[in-house]
Amino acid sequence: MFGKRSLNEPPEPAASSAPAKKPSPAPAPAAAAPASQPRPKSSAPANDIAAPQADAPEFRSEAYYRVKSTIFNALIETIDLAQLAQLDPESARDEIRDIVAEIISIKNVVMSIAEQESLLDDICNDVLGYGPLEPLLARDDIADIMVNGAGAVFIEVSGKVQKTGVRFRDNGQLMNVCQRIVSQVGRRVDEASPICDARLPDGSRVNVIAPPLAIDGPSLTIRKFKKDKLRLQNLVDFGSISPAGAKILQIIGACRCNTLISGGTGSGKTTLLNTLTAFIDPSERVITCEDAAELQLQQPHVVRLETRPPNLEGSGQVTMRDLVKNCLRMRPDRIIVGEVRGSEAFDLLQAMNTGHDGSMGTLHANSPREALSRLESMITMGGFSLPPKTIREIVVASVDVVIQAARLRDGSRRITQISEVMGLEGDTIITQDLLLFEITGEDSNGRIMGRHRSTGIGRPRFWERARYFGLDKELAQALDESEAD
Ligand SMILES: Nc1ncnc2c1ncn2[C@@H]1O[C@H](COP(=O)(O)OP(=O)(O)OP(=O)(O)O)[C@@H](O)[C@H]1O
Ligand SMILES: [Mg+2]
Repeated sequence: MFGKRSLNEPPEPAASSAPAKKPSPAPAPAAAAPASQPRPKSSAPANDIAAPQADAPEFRSEAYYRVKSTIFNALIETIDLAQLAQLDPESARDEIRDIVAEIISIKNVVMSIAEQESLLDDICNDVLGYGPLEPLLARDDIADIMVNGAGAVFIEVSGKVQKTGVRFRDNGQLMNVCQRIVSQVGRRVDEASPICDARLPDGSRVNVIAPPLAIDGPSLTIRKFKKDKLRLQNLVDFGSISPAGAKILQIIGACRCNTLISGGTGSGKTTLLNTLTAFIDPSERVITCEDAAELQLQQPHVVRLETRPPNLEGSGQVTMRDLVKNCLRMRPDRIIVGEVRGSEAFDLLQAMNTGHDGSMGTLHANSPREALSRLESMITMGGFSLPPKTIREIVVASVDVVIQAARLRDGSRRITQISEVMGLEGDTIITQDLLLFEITGEDSNGRIMGRHRSTGIGRPRFWERARYFGLDKELAQALDESEAD
């Protein structure tokens, strides 16, 4: 058999490696049992090692981890990893399957076929994939995976964070998985460079921070990539926005308003940005700039750009500002910035008021007002020596609409505010709310109830723009409906 270094040598007696070994005079290897007489799953195992539980894949017993560890160690001693790496995943899996079956038989572990399959999956995930993370990565209902050291893995499902039973053997294994993830994008994470951003092959966004900066072991955060991105209709179905509110958003996207999406971490900013891009006319040339490509535009004429961190020698970095500046030389109709975080704010605003109407970006802030003042501070901190009033004038001349996204305490994500930038009064930026989410109470399941209400503004500032695009009647209707809701 391929890859074996020592299996043909006499195996070390099971007794020496088996934890909690019971003396068993003549153990019958499970692998040798005739296929016609399968051992009932419930039968007491007359074996050297306690068999693992196949059910409840996320909550394994201590015995399971002991067995797995023993078999895993034997496998690693046996297999030639260099040769294994040359194989395609299917053949490598078959190879591991054969060797594990043999180890199970040599070590007299009695387990059902289902248990063996589940152990084999786990071991293959450890050797070939991302170890205990694999079952979580395979689930599509998880938004985030948060690993705080080997023993604590949390996930976010339906807006709620919960602890899972998944754990790593130790921080060493966790570090190996982190290393495997970041090495795919040509990076390294270790004591010397303990912070790293990366991306999984499926597009999920990954951050790793390792000891000594992370005190209790490596910390890994994954924002799972959703293959089927939410659409505006999904947001309506979830109650994140009312149907009339969705119509207003659609008009904002279609009539080329310069738009900022503001919100806290994980509030759904990127998702909302993606849904708005659905209303961009297919004839427009759109350029997206992101730190990790998350947006999925459906238009035919899209150029996707991604920033690049510095290499191991500390050179070669391409920042968001570099990308946005370069965009301007690429004849874009619209520029979309995944997340505005620093001095690129200035270039995005410049783009917005130099003929790239309909440009969009997200930023972290708790309200539209705060979003605008954050924009100002990003420009100030970016080293532009402009008087505050000039910066405000640029903001007012550039941004048309700010949409606020929020994750409420029940875990639901809602669009809580749609505001317009009206102008400057003295030194103050004036905004006007078009739509607000009003909380009306809580249902019996603790779910927050509320409604999206128009503030009674009949003619938003972008009315003329909507008229130019032939969308004024729809806008009037949506605003009326929001009042009546
Ligand atoms: N309205 C919504 N209803 C339900 N789930 C949503 C909604 N909006 C976003 N999500 C889900 O929430 C998760 C986080 O969304 P998203 O990545 O858009 O947040 P974000 O604000 O951009 O986060 P970050 O600040 O980390 O960039 C994703 O899994 C997404 O599918
Ligand atoms: Mg985001």
